[in-house]
Amino acid sequence: MATLAELASSRTKLDEAAIDHLLRLTASWSLLSDLSFSDMLLMAKVDEPSDRGCGDFVVLGQMRPNNRSTLLNDDLVGTTQELDAWPLVRLAFESGTRVVGELKIDKIEGVVPVWCVPVGFDGKIVAVLVRLQGPLRGPASLYEQAYLSIFERLCSMVADATFPYREDDVAGPGMPRVGDGILLLDERGEVEFATPNATNALHRLGIYASVEGHTLRVMGLRVRVVERSLEFGIPAMEEIDRGQDVAILFHCVPLFDHGIVTGVVVLVRDVSDLRQLNRLVLSKEAAVREVHHRVKNNLQTISSLLRLQARRSSEVETRTALQEAERRVRSIAVVHEVLSREPGEEVVFDEIVRSLVLLVEDTVLALHPVEIVVNGELGTLPTDLATPLAVALAELLTNAVEHAFVDFGGATNDHVGVVTLNLYQEDGNAVAEVRDNGRGLGDDFSLEVPTSLGLSIVRDLVRTQLHGSIEMNSVPYSKGGGTFVRVVVPTTARL
Ligand SMILES: Nc1ncnc2c1ncn2[C@@H]1O[C@H](COP(=O)(O)OP(=O)(O)O)[C@@H](O)[C@H]1O
Ligand SMILES: [Mg+2]
Repeated sequence: MATLAELASSRTKLDEAAIDHLLRLTASWSLLSDLSFSDMLLMAKVDEPSDRGCGDFVVLGQMRPNNRSTLLNDDLVGTTQELDAWPLVRLAFESGTRVVGELKIDKIEGVVPVWCVPVGFDGKIVAVLVRLQGPLRGPASLYEQAYLSIFERLCSMVADATFPYREDDVAGPGMPRVGDGILLLDERGEVEFATPNATNALHRLGIYASVEGHTLRVMGLRVRVVERSLEFGIPAMEEIDRGQDVAILFHCVPLFDHGIVTGVVVLVRDVSDLRQLNRLVLSKEAAVREVHHRVKNNLQTISSLLRLQARRSSEVETRTALQEAERRVRSIAVVHEVLSREPGEEVVFDEIVRSLVLLVEDTVLALHPVEIVVNGELGTLPTDLATPLAVALAELLTNAVEHAFVDFGGATNDHVGVVTLNLYQEDGNAVAEVRDNGRGLGDDFSLEVPTSLGLSIVRDLVRTQLHGSIEMNSVPYSKGGGTFVRVVVPTTARL
């Protein structure tokens, strides 16, 4: 579906400034629709030759009321409407004044009361706002009458281009709406009337006496935006809090008559529940952070215990096993270190990689000097993927440092051991390649039958837990020799 801007620039003669004005109008016209309990259409003249000699209308926008059922089931945006079918719209265009009457409308039974409000801009009529009034349910109540009188004042503002405002005042998802509560203030700031919801909101702020006939300030409530709105005629929003539990949003819509501020409509919304929910979410985040922090501490304790035990055991095999276990626990702790800093669904994996490299360099006492080089990055990854992937990478890096260069002798050898870790994302997969320029894998090596613990862990993590694949090969001597391991893990699959 074409946007208002696209429709207006392709089908009408309106210039950019006028289109901007209409965009601002449709950004805030839910207010008009709700105040008048009516469907709204925005029509502009089509700039195309017609066989009847005069152009037709194109519907640039459509708005349905939130507090009534709609009259128009069809979406008319983008449709061309014949001039003759909408004589009142034509009259509004030509006379530049509001035209009120009745129209027979396609697919609707009987006649529909309509208001055709010219939309002024820069001394011209750029469009017509059509209000299609639904059937009235009995005589209008006091509040309905008040809503309609505000609507009427806003319509005059639409005609003389003071509504929509020049300032950006777009109705966002959290903004108060007509149904939330309304205070109507006169030009001195005295409350002319308050809807029951607005009164309730004031109760929550501790104002129990009737506010009608008084300014909010006299009642003990200072809302700066109300004062600013009255003085300068600008729309504005402010949230007033009372302690932890009460938060009320005030949205001021100034009313003008011939360029003079004649009052302010204050839309009032009780957002206490919303704010409480926000606080809850925030405290939940803090709790998650705390849990990660504790897990990290516990892992550190476990790793210290393992180190102590390793030192105490006299048997080489036991000691090595305990040292390896300690290293594994530490690589899990590295992930939790990062998670405890920024809890969430995703984690910046590259921070983990940096710590892992330090860890491997630190733990493995290679006889041969080895350099670890990291190329590329994986960016952010889902947290449930980060731990297994980090542990697998730690095993592969450790193996390269530990096994690849064993035959290369001491530091006097001029062969420099280099382990390269290439990281990148490709087609929804995280790819990690570990390459070394060492002695390569033995002839009888097979990834499928590892009896040793390290590669069994890697295989299990990558294939079973991460639903990924792993390949491991010796690189021919002509291509530099050494070992090449590639791990491919889908980043989208839920684990
Ligand atoms: N990058 C490598 N270069 C040479 N040999 C390797 C490499 N990675 C693994 N290996 C061989 O595979 C064997 C199994 O590794 P692993 O399962 O991690 O057990 P461990 O490291 O405890 O020996 C190693 O003992 C080593 O012989
Ligand atoms: Mg190993």
